[in-house]
Amino acid sequence: MSAYLGIDVGTSGTKTVICREDGTILATATAEHPSYYPQPGWSEQEPEDWWKSTVQSVRQALSRAGVPSTEVRGIGLSGQMHGSVFLDGNGQVLRRAILWNDQRTAEQCRQIEEAAGGRANLIRMVGNPAFTGFTAPKILWLRQHEPHLYERTRKILLPKDYIRYRLTGEFVTEVSDASGTLLLDVAGRQWCKPLLARLQIAEELLPVCVESQEITGRLTGTAAQELGLSMGVPVVGGAGDQAAGAVGNGIVRTGVLSATMGTSGVVFAHSDHVQTDPQGRVHTMCHAVKGAWHLMGVVLSAGGSLQWFRNHFANAEMRLAAERQVDAYDLILALAEQAPPGAEGLLFLPHLTGERHPHADPYARGAWIGLTVRHGWRHLARAVVEGATLALRDCLEVMTELGIVPQQIRLSGGGARNPFWRQLQADIYGHRVALVNAREGPAFGVAILAMVGTGAYRSVPEACDATIRVTEEIAPRPAMVAFYERCYQEYRQLYPALRASFPRLAQLAQEQTNS
Ligand code: XUL
Repeated sequence: MSAYLGIDVGTSGTKTVICREDGTILATATAEHPSYYPQPGWSEQEPEDWWKSTVQSVRQALSRAGVPSTEVRGIGLSGQMHGSVFLDGNGQVLRRAILWNDQRTAEQCRQIEEAAGGRANLIRMVGNPAFTGFTAPKILWLRQHEPHLYERTRKILLPKDYIRYRLTGEFVTEVSDASGTLLLDVAGRQWCKPLLARLQIAEELLPVCVESQEITGRLTGTAAQELGLSMGVPVVGGAGDQAAGAVGNGIVRTGVLSATMGTSGVVFAHSDHVQTDPQGRVHTMCHAVKGAWHLMGVVLSAGGSLQWFRNHFANAEMRLAAERQVDAYDLILALAEQAPPGAEGLLFLPHLTGERHPHADPYARGAWIGLTVRHGWRHLARAVVEGATLALRDCLEVMTELGIVPQQIRLSGGGARNPFWRQLQADIYGHRVALVNAREGPAFGVAILAMVGTGAYRSVPEACDATIRVTEEIAPRPAMVAFYERCYQEYRQLYPALRASFPRLAQLAQEQTNS
């Protein structure tokens, strides 16, 4: 029998999935690793900690699955995107990795857009405008702020590719994760030489870039021994966590989209040709499927808004949930459902940590708009859930403007677990939504890539067809679609109306924090 390993180096921990060729999950295991916030807006992790959590989760998953290591035929790697690991000539880590949610590079983003000949030119070259979390601005930051380390840098790797280096000794990345560096010619699926030249970044600093299912190396004897696996097991390219999660959800054909409501909310659409938004309101990146791309809208605090609401306003529900051993979110959602749709004229903007899409505004802020004396806790809760969902609809709207025609939207994350929120998503998106049998996310997605790369299937869509199936479909209710359409038309006017105030509010907050 054959078994496949998917390893996802996430932000809070590393998850390993072991499965069979038909998609049966044999075991999963997760091991945590810490984050460091040395200054406000900075976010770092120690690559050695990723290695430790990888070893721990692989070993634990193997012992839970009870499969002999000789059955493992292939390994796929996924991970948090955009992070940067700087290595010296001996492959030693020079400093902590700077993560996707680090905000220190606003000035370098400006410099990159200028060097590219403007924002529109940058989008034409690499599919995206400059975002603070992306890799390229971090490289410029290191050069400007820690030049002694930059001088010693010989390789710059993404998080999962550092783990690949530890597993195989090879410096390789693949197109989906490389798309988030801001250095990949996303249309040509190779490093963007003209931009590298303008930024004076030597291509030798970057790893080789291949397609996601390609075999990139084999387990070394040392790594095999540490993990409890056999030497020589092939490691395929894998994918950035979003593309990997999409494969694990079967988003590998035109018309099938996903909406993932985690801390962030992500709308993901497969596309068989490259298309960019000239205004940069959604990402365009290479998909982990050969010859395909994807559009992706990221709302930074979608489920995160409900988490904030729970933490600050739902003490009673949290206590009750602990007593009854149920999920506090289910209790909050049950109460939110009791408020009428549209929360009696109350809308919520979920931009609690600034916003990536569609506004690309680090100063964007959250708000409840439309409060009256009639509103109470349940209305506030319902408005938060509706606001998070309307924010994803905003991204979906940009995609439909670009020609994406959704036939089915597959739900995952916290928003998929609750029936009220599932129906709300169908009504707000105005499309059929679906649930699938596969629940293991990015780690399962890259196990599928390992199956394809080692020859168990001919293509990623074929592997997804064999392992993933829709288990439930929910139709939008026409009267509610019409109602929420009106809510959405109001919602979309609010951010532009408030935009000018947000930086001033941020300034006021800053002054008080500093005084
Ligand atoms: C994607 C993104 C996050 C990170 C961390 O663009 O920023 O999904 O990959 O999970």
